[in-house]
Amino acid sequence: MTNDRRTPKLILAPLKGFTEAVFRNAFAAHFDGFDGAMAPFVTAVAAGRLAEKHIQDLLPQQNSRMPIEPQILGNSADDFIFLARRLCEMGYPEVNWNLGCPYRPVTKKRRGSGLLPFPEQVDEFLDRTLRALPGRLSIKMRLGRNRPDEIFKLLPIFNRYPLKEITIHPRTARQMYGGVPDLDTFQGCLEQSRHRLVYNGDITDLQGFREM
Ligand SMILES: Cc1cc2nc3c(=O)[nH]c(=O)nc-3n(C[C@H](O)[C@H](O)[C@H](O)COP(=O)(O)O)c2cc1C
Repeated sequence: MTNDRRTPKLILAPLKGFTEAVFRNAFAAHFDGFDGAMAPFVTAVAAGRLAEKHIQDLLPQQNSRMPIEPQILGNSADDFIFLARRLCEMGYPEVNWNLGCPYRPVTKKRRGSGLLPFPEQVDEFLDRTLRALPGRLSIKMRLGRNRPDEIFKLLPIFNRYPLKEITIHPRTARQMYGGVPDLDTFQGCLEQSRHRLVYNGDITDLQGFREM
């Protein structure tokens, strides 16, 4: 859900293993009200290792019912740029960078939320990637890996780059999906980010959506 009050948008969150093309198409056939979906992440791999099966879910011919934004998981600028260029050729000029995945096999490789405690590495990645990216970049992230204030070292870095928008799921990775979203810290992010922010997390009914 975006913070642009003139054009509020509702985007289906990505759930890897659930909201792939079959789900998205069935969903779009039976429900409306969503402006689009973020696709579950594709892991960036070295150029020679990228196989068609990695990007099969994103083939335009099976994604005509709902606008989608592809998402990439990775920390290598070269691999990310290679995949983003391939996606651009397929008709997706905008890609999302996953800085939220909380699972240990991912975070221990400093991918997903595993990068959140390392602002300098994030800065270096953005500097290299945004010089070479064919289109626009958005980010989806948690507040931090271990602590909710990790994000406040990242927002000033993001403010220096031309991002499309930042989706924030206001939990730490350590929280996984427990507890409640930290709305106070999200409010602090609204005050410190110059980018459009998209809120994500625990929107489960119409009343909750309206209150949010
Ligand atoms: C099974 C599962 C798979 C997920 N896969 C992704 C993913 O591929 N990319 C991503 O950014 N977030 C992923 N998420 C996180 C969700 O997109 C979302 O941020 C989180 O579930 C909180 O929002 P919700 O309360 O609306 O579900 C996943 C979550 C779950 C439970």
